Order: sequence, then C-alpha cells, then structure tokens
Amino acid sequence: MRPVGSLNTPTDGCLDGRVCLVLGAGALSKGWAIGQAIAIAYARAGARVMVGDQNLEAANATVRFIQSQGAQAQACEVEVTSEVSVQNAVSNTVSAFGALHVLHNNVGIGKSGDSAQTTALEWQRISDANLLALHLASQAAIPCMRKAGGGVILCTSSIASHRYVGIPHLAYGVTKAATNQFCKMMAVEYAPDNIRVNALVVGLVDTPRIRNTLMGTYGQDEEAMVRRRNAQIPLGEMGDAWDVANAAVFLASDRARFISGIELVIDGGMSATVRGG
Ligand SMILES: NC(=O)c1ccc[n+]([C@@H]2O[C@H](COP(=O)([O-])OP(=O)(O)OC[C@H]3O[C@@H](n4cnc5c(N)ncnc54)[C@H](O)[C@@H]3O)[C@@H](O)[C@H]2O)c1
Repeated sequence: MRPVGSLNTPTDGCLDGRVCLVLGAGALSKGWAIGQAIAIAYARAGARVMVGDQNLEAANATVRFIQSQGAQAQACEVEVTSEVSVQNAVSNTVSAFGALHVLHNNVGIGKSGDSAQTTALEWQRISDANLLALHLASQAAIPCMRKAGGGVILCTSSIASHRYVGIPHLAYGVTKAATNQFCKMMAVEYAPDNIRVNALVVGLVDTPRIRNTLMGTYGQDEEAMVRRRNAQIPLGEMGDAWDVANAAVFLASDRARFISGIELVIDGGMSATVRGG
C-alpha cells in the first residue's frame, strides 16, 4: 500500500454542514480500503460522517483516524443486506447528527474463478450485498433527504460492470452493471426531490481486499499479481483508495450540483484501451 503521505484530500470545507453515511467504510486488513478513504475524505472536507460496517472494530478504526484529523465521525454496526439494520443505521445517523444529506453505498463482494462453480446461495449472497442493499439503504435515506431539501446518493461500482477485467468475476460484474442502471433510474426518479444519484465506476485499485480475496484467482504470488494488474493500466499502476475518495468528494459536493445519473470512470485509462492483463 502507498503510505499515509498519499492522503491528499480537499480540506476546503466543500462538505461543510453535510451529514454523510458511508456503508462499508472499514477495511478488511491493514492498508487503505475505498470506503474507509471515502469516509475520511468526506470528514476532511467538512462533513460529519457515520461510518457503517458489519465489522464494528473496522468502523471504529476509521472513526479514530477521522478524529485524529480533527474531524467528526461516529461508528455503527450495520449489515447492508438487512432492512432493519440499514434503517437503524439511517436513524442512528439522524439522531447523532440531525440530518442525512449524503448516502454512499460502498459495499461490494464477489466470487472470482470458474463461474460454473458459483452456487445459487453464493450468487444470492453477492446479489443481496451488491444490489438489494442499494435499494434498502436508498429507501431508508430518501425520506431524510426530502426533509433536508435534497441529497446525494453515490454507489461504488466497478469497471467489471463494463468489461472483462482479466479474471472471471461473473456475479460481481453483473451485479455491478445493475448498480450503474440503479443509479441512472434513481437519478431520474428522484431529481424532482433534488436528489442526485451517481455511480463511481472504479478500475483496478490497490486495496487490502485484492490481496485477501483475489490472490487465489490470479494464481501467482502477490508481487506478480500487482505487476500484472499494473501492466493493464495505461497510467502505469493501480489506483489507490484516495483516487476514488477524491472523486467521491467532488460528486457529493455542490460543485457537482448539475451532475446526476452518470457513471464516473476512475480507472487510469484502462477501459479506453484493449490491452490485456
Ligand atoms: N479494490 C478494487 O480493485 C476495486 C475495484 C473496483 C471496484 N471496487 C469496489 O469498491 C468497493 C470497496 O472495495 P474495497 O476493496 O475497498 O472494500 P472491502 O472489500 O475492503 O470492503 C470494505 C468494507 O465493507 C464491509 N462489508 C462487507 N460486506 C458487508 C455487509 N454485508 N454489510 C456491511 N459491511 C460490509 C467489510 O467489513 C469491509 O470493512 C466495493 O464496492 C468494490 O466492489 C473495488
């Protein structure tokens, strides 16, 4: 992982007064995960942040980092596939901070490798976490956003929603493709409520997750996997979690007030080329 030195997110108050809920804002292990960086970046930009994760200790670690930056956050345990749990996360956010303006759906899971080996149960688990969860969280958040006079819903998608990215990842790519369409349809439906909805279509990023869950599929040692992923990217190497977090801050802020229903691709040029991995 790149060191903390790469933490270079806006501190100009572009999210002053905003309350954000980030779902999946912990990290699986050491190193910066995308949701974690997003929660930190929102807080550094002035927002008060509810850090939601199924792993409360991981959420607490993100909160401790935010507080060390002199910003405000609280942690809550949330299982994004449970309607009750997600509703609790939204009401905890409103109780703690008085409103909810930005919902960021960041959880994404998958099963790489031979797609024919994915069981119905595994497919259901992936679909629930990547897709049903978007609906549950948005459903809970929209009344709060209406009360606030508007809001922003962001979903972390993947370029696996557009392309085969070098390894088999079927249920993941298919549910991420649906994520993009979820954002577009929601953007149109809730535009009259001044709610913007956008997808961050993320390319190959170096997070703890790739070393935890994808290594086996690459079938190589860690260094070889990193070399292979870097070689796929015109800009020369994988992005890091901060590359995604900076884009999220922009889309969450009023600077993006006329941007809704888009897929913002953050991939170092990868989806613009046919080079293989
Ligand atoms: N790492 C990449 O290269 C990459 C590329 C494209 C897109 N993405 C997307 O970025 C997002 C974040 O990826 P990451 O690698 O930083 O995340 P990650 O896999 O490290 O997960 C972040 C957090 O989500 C939590 N989580 C998982 N399932 C949950 C559930 N059911 N309920 C609540 N919390 C849950 C985990 O506990 C973890 O702390 C995902 O949507 C992923 O699909 C990642």
